[in-house]
Amino acid sequence: MKVLSPFFSVALTQSTLCAAQGYTNESEVPYYGLSPPVYPSPVGNGTTSNAWKNAYQHAKAIVSKLTLEEKVNVTGGFDGACVGNSGAVPRLSIPSLCFQDAPDGVRGQEFVSAFPASIHVAATWDRSLMYQYGNALGEEYHDKGIHVALGPVAGPLGRIARGGRNWEGLSADPYLAGAGMGAITRGIQDAGVIASAKHWLLNEEEWRRNPGNLGESESSNADDRTIHELYAFPFMDSLRDGVGSVLCSYQRVNNSYACQNSKLLNGILKTELGFEGFVVSDWEGQHAGVASANAGLDIVMPDQGFWGNKLTEAVNNGSVSTDRINDMATRILSSWYYLDQNKGYPSNGVYANDKKHDPVDVQGDHASLIREIGAAGIVLVKNTNNALPFTNSTRFLSVYGYDATLPPSPWNNPSRYGGGYEVNFGWNTFNGTLVTGGGSGGSTPPYVVSPIQAIQERISRDRGTLRWDFWSENPTPAYVNSDACLVFINAYASESFDRETLQDEFSDNLVKNVASNCTNTIVVIHSAGIRTVDTWINNPNITAVLFAGLPGQESGHSLTDVLYGEIAPSGRLPYTIAKNESDYGRLLNSTISFDAFPQVNFTEGLYIDYRYFDKEEIEPRFEFGFGLTYSTFGYAGLRVTANNGSSSTAELPDPDIAIVQGGHPQLWDELYTVTASITNTGNVTASEIPQLYVSIPNAPVRQLRGFEKVPLKAGQTKSVRFPLTRRDLSIWDVEVQQWRLQRAEYGIFVGASSRDLRLKGSVRIQ
Ligand SMILES: *[C@@H]1O[C@H](CO)[C@@H](O)[C@H](O)[C@H]1NC(C)=O
Ligand SMILES: *[C@@H]1O[C@H](CO)[C@@H](O)[C@H](O)[C@H]1NC(C)=O
Ligand SMILES: *[C@@H]1O[C@H](CO)[C@@H](O)[C@H](O)[C@H]1NC(C)=O
Ligand SMILES: *[C@@H]1O[C@H](CO)[C@@H](O)[C@H](O)[C@H]1NC(C)=O
Ligand SMILES: *[C@@H]1O[C@H](CO)[C@@H](O)[C@H](O)[C@H]1NC(C)=O
Ligand SMILES: *[C@@H]1O[C@H](CO)[C@@H](O)[C@H](O)[C@H]1NC(C)=O
Ligand SMILES: *[C@@H]1O[C@H](CO)[C@@H](O)[C@H](O)[C@H]1NC(C)=O
Ligand SMILES: *[C@@H]1O[C@H](CO)[C@@H](O)[C@H](O)[C@H]1NC(C)=O
Ligand SMILES: *[C@@H]1O[C@H](CO)[C@@H](O)[C@H](O)[C@H]1NC(C)=O
Ligand SMILES: *[C@@H]1O[C@H](CO)[C@@H](O)[C@H](O)[C@H]1NC(C)=O
Ligand SMILES: *[C@@H]1O[C@H](CO)[C@@H](O)[C@H](O)[C@H]1NC(C)=O
Ligand SMILES: *[C@@H]1O[C@H](CO)[C@@H](O)[C@H](O)[C@H]1NC(C)=O
Repeated sequence: MKVLSPFFSVALTQSTLCAAQGYTNESEVPYYGLSPPVYPSPVGNGTTSNAWKNAYQHAKAIVSKLTLEEKVNVTGGFDGACVGNSGAVPRLSIPSLCFQDAPDGVRGQEFVSAFPASIHVAATWDRSLMYQYGNALGEEYHDKGIHVALGPVAGPLGRIARGGRNWEGLSADPYLAGAGMGAITRGIQDAGVIASAKHWLLNEEEWRRNPGNLGESESSNADDRTIHELYAFPFMDSLRDGVGSVLCSYQRVNNSYACQNSKLLNGILKTELGFEGFVVSDWEGQHAGVASANAGLDIVMPDQGFWGNKLTEAVNNGSVSTDRINDMATRILSSWYYLDQNKGYPSNGVYANDKKHDPVDVQGDHASLIREIGAAGIVLVKNTNNALPFTNSTRFLSVYGYDATLPPSPWNNPSRYGGGYEVNFGWNTFNGTLVTGGGSGGSTPPYVVSPIQAIQERISRDRGTLRWDFWSENPTPAYVNSDACLVFINAYASESFDRETLQDEFSDNLVKNVASNCTNTIVVIHSAGIRTVDTWINNPNITAVLFAGLPGQESGHSLTDVLYGEIAPSGRLPYTIAKNESDYGRLLNSTISFDAFPQVNFTEGLYIDYRYFDKEEIEPRFEFGFGLTYSTFGYAGLRVTANNGSSSTAELPDPDIAIVQGGHPQLWDELYTVTASITNTGNVTASEIPQLYVSIPNAPVRQLRGFEKVPLKAGQTKSVRFPLTRRDLSIWDVEVQQWRLQRAEYGIFVGASSRDLRLKGSVRIQ
């Protein structure tokens, strides 16, 4: 039963359509701070698909044989080889499930791959690579005997430009992030591993994400419409594609801890989005026993937290119902059956690496995929004087900067490579090339091909000449005969703290100093997200700039593939790069508060990243979706057609049709199709990434609602098709509590970025 206090109904009414367009006046802000109670917790029943139905039959049958102690056992964590290990039931051969980080590769293990970070994968805008990424990751988890992979990530989404964990997620745009969430979920689960979509929800800053000496954690307060259209949106794709687990986040939402927030778990996730799997707490993210159980948490990690014997007591005294404990155990085991993990699973290959053992090698041939994604996620943002690609006569290079080479030892500074469980957050940012971010989301490379290594390989093949200086801030003298000077800098970020800057003086000085002596300076930035460049971007001696992201273990090879034109760059920015840090306004920093109950009001509503820049008419340095390549493209023939035969354009989805996991099934009905033709008008084979933006009435100026990577030979033309679903065109109606199509005119734009709109049209829904 859903209980709304009279007060709360008033609050909902206040969050009207226009209110969510970004509040400029604090007095217009709806009262934040109350999370509506939604009880009891929905009992999963597997009705939403045949695969789930089958899994539930098995799970219910085995749960009916469990004692209360055994049911409680499977809902908690125990010490073991993995970062999390659920309780087993040896009597019935239910194993301990192994949970392990990270979203970009199995963490802290040997003979595992370090994949590009998710933000790098998003920068490929390549749906096929997104799937292959998830699938290769899944294979490694599977072969190590890990049951639950802690990813993919759509929270943080990237509300705050300096957010410490933005790189673990995909993009500040919910549609692009959603495409990645769906594809990566499918990839991981097709390999037989339970994916865990995280962090649910509004985990947008690191500052006081957990309670501590100062008081409770921050409370992320967002209105209902913003939660649906922005933050929950990408999770819907993961759910739709069958994700077996969702990990609830550390901080509070409307003052209720996310892992005991009944509106988030019982309400949005398990009722509205029909989630059939289990909710696992972030590590030590549980803050109450009875309250979390009744709010919809199903398993606590890494230990038994407030449960264990206390949960047994709570069931015995009626504070937690028998239905609930049965549902908790059933949901956990249903996911296990759903992925067929009961039909034999590799024995646990995860070890503490300080003990001599024979590690299982799970790398397969993933290095070539890593190299490919690494190259595909590089974004070329400046290229003048035909600086790139290098030609056969480019045989003398000078290389500068700390980011060109390896750090002295990754293991002295494990956070740089995210290695091991012992994480040292305090280490020097300017020391060695950056291939992943810090904290639990970091990968553990088996090796790292640094930029200098790959450049050496190429120079030696070409019998060229190389000069380098990795450490000076002002490297002199310049080698006057160099064909080009490559400067490597980076921008680090880590779990546990937000970034203090989006640029740093040492790196900017280095770039400027090299450029002052070299008329063909090429800057490569490995960054964990946004990195501002305005102190030097217009310097005419800086001829090319590449955002090379967090590319994983094949970093140098991915880069030289692009520098030498073996692959034309096709990455596009998954976020907005401003001219000045201050252009992000209140979306630059985390909200720093020393209150006992710190409040982070998401008063900007739907207006983050490019939605904010568009609304405020701020000209960015490089807009969302931007990226150059070695060819040029023509756009023509925009057509918008209504798909006869698909569901009607009724304003609301049919209330008589049952929810499936992911939400109302009609939300995925393709109502319209947009087509356009793209021609490679240059003379180089390259991929274009045409992007579809829609102006939805009473919503941000334009929102991404389609994209496709289109490889084209010189002169070739291809038609590209963008399906528009009901969800793509709807807004969340807070009164009706449903996605609503508006009877109005929608602007349709196809272009090469969020501001380079080549084709314009419209469609009227009536
Ligand atoms: C904010 O809105 C209130 C109520 O509409 C109005 O009285 C007040 O003048 C507004 N304040 C500003 C700074 O615009
Ligand atoms: C957050 O919003 C509430 C009203 O909804 C207000 O009382 C509070 O002062 C705001 N907090 C901050 C830090 O802006
Ligand atoms: C948080 O509060 C806002 C404003 O009252 C409301 O619209 C939203 O639904 C609430 N969300 C949760 C999860 O409590
Ligand atoms: C199954 O669970 C869903 C979600 O709680 C509910 O809407 C549906 O009515 C249930 N179906 C059956 C047959 O119990
Ligand atoms: C609970 O789980 C632990 C850890 O897997 C296991 O050792 C223990 O036997 C289980 N207890 C019961 C009652 O099954
Ligand atoms: C039931 O047991 C739980 C766990 O020990 C405890 O927190 C709760 O207060 C008890 N409730 C009642 C009504 O005794
Ligand atoms: C560059 O060198 C490669 C390998 O030697 C050769 O195949 C290619 O044709 C050359 N390209 C040009 C433009 O000379
Ligand atoms: C790299 O790290 C070493 C050891 O911590 C330090 O001595 C050196 O100054 C660092 N280099 C730079 C450029 O910061
Ligand atoms: C490099 O540039 C600096 C600053 O413009 C200048 O002082 C210096 O002489 C130059 N060095 C060489 C070798 O050109
Ligand atoms: C952001 O935080 C930094 C401290 O890290 C502070 O110096 C700066 O003034 C803040 N800027 C804004 C716009 O809040
Ligand atoms: C560009 O490089 C040339 C040659 O070293 C130098 O003379 C000039 O000052 C540089 N320009 C800038 C803007 O750094
Ligand atoms: C490719 O196109 C560019 C610009 O249109 C032109 O300058 C160049 O000569 C062309 N190269 C070849 C090999 O056709």
